[in-house]
Amino acid sequence: MSYSIAIDGPAGAGKSTIAKRVAKELGFIYVDTGAMYRAMAVYFLDKGIDSKDEEGIARACGSVSVKIMYENGAQQVILNGENVTSRLRTEEVGRMASATAVYASVRTKLVELQRELAAGTDVIMDGRDIGTCVLPDATVKIYLTASVEARARRRYDELVQKGETPQLSVIKEDIEKRDYNDMHRDISPLRRAEDAHLVDSSDMDIDEVTATILDIFSSKIKN
Ligand code: DC
Repeated sequence: MSYSIAIDGPAGAGKSTIAKRVAKELGFIYVDTGAMYRAMAVYFLDKGIDSKDEEGIARACGSVSVKIMYENGAQQVILNGENVTSRLRTEEVGRMASATAVYASVRTKLVELQRELAAGTDVIMDGRDIGTCVLPDATVKIYLTASVEARARRRYDELVQKGETPQLSVIKEDIEKRDYNDMHRDISPLRRAEDAHLVDSSDMDIDEVTATILDIFSSKIKN
């Protein structure tokens, strides 16, 4: 029997950092589903397809292939045979991913791939609809959130560390827009599954959140 941990929550709540840590502790595979939506977004951007052109996006979905590989335990996303992992983490790609994740054509394709990846393997998967749609029978579901202020501050610090000169107010606005998009779309909007544990990381560090999730998991499998 295999185990699965679903982590959902808004942008910047720390899902991927925490999921990677938990995966390492438990020896699980980590699947970053946001990276798949981002890879599709890279394709739409490269092809010059407008995010509002639903038909164009649906057509493009027919000719795009997204695959996942692991290199030294790190997830790599292969788009039509090319490794695009280094192109995924820009604000432009994040915005496009959020805008195009609303379409059934995009979601159907990626949800299928995500379920295939989880089948028969111990997995921790993060995203927006993992507990509600992709893995409704996950062993443990976590809804990881933090205040908009805390999330904007973390993103700001990350960019400053990279040598950029961001504006906190712009980052905050961007996060609010992404939250709105992700929570108000018709298909699989971001929401806490009824059986998900709520973890608010606003005043917690990475170690504390990791320990909390490991505790939730170990008490679940003991019962
Ligand atoms: O987690 P992220 O920032 O990398 O995700 C980018 C966008 O992809 C996010 O704004 C919404 C979309 N997404 C989604 O709709 N469902 C998922 N399971 C993961 C991401």
